[in-house]
Amino acid sequence: RVSVAVLVSGAGSNLRALHAASLTADSPFRIVLVISNNSGSGGLAYAADHAIPTLHVSGRTHPDPGALDAELVRQLQAHQIELIVTAGYMKKVGPRVLAEYAGRILNIHPSLLPAHGGPGMYGAAVHRAVLAAGDRLSGPSVHLVTDEYDEGEIIGHQEVPVLDGDTPETLAARVLVAEHELLPMVVTELSRRLRR
Ligand code: GAR
Repeated sequence: RVSVAVLVSGAGSNLRALHAASLTADSPFRIVLVISNNSGSGGLAYAADHAIPTLHVSGRTHPDPGALDAELVRQLQAHQIELIVTAGYMKKVGPRVLAEYAGRILNIHPSLLPAHGGPGMYGAAVHRAVLAAGDRLSGPSVHLVTDEYDEGEIIGHQEVPVLDGDTPETLAARVLVAEHELLPMVVTELSRRLRR
């Protein structure tokens, strides 16, 4: 099976959805490493609770960004990672990781890219922007990671209606449900392709 590393910063609900999918008998991937820049993240705690190796790598552990990037490559290689998923990882992936894993880093973003992506667009800010624009449709996108935020090729998306009276919170909750379906689907498909 394809060995996946998941990078998280926060609650880690997408990590949970991905992990649940990986436990099904015919799953073509397994999560072998969870990395976080946030030692207190729910995602890291979840991984530890489920016997998945974890790693805390941040500006605190590695003040030099180049050294942090190199450490990530070293760890990813040591765990024989073939596919990286950033799921609520609020940091840019460094140039060494990008070069080593070109075309094999996926990110999930809570809007229909290319709308409402880019620097500063994460979490509630995305849903506020969707509501401010008066969009009637939103939903998550999964895309390949490049050196620009939210810019790589879009691999999949799922449409979710924007409802009258939505707040950033109600919209975020509806989009998150779709994220938990979309991300495992895309990672499953890509893992099957990598094995062919
Ligand atoms: C998700 O909604 C994800 O799409 C978003 O952060 C949340 C993480 O939730 N990512 C971004 O906004 C990236 N620009 P989780 O920790 O529960 O998976």
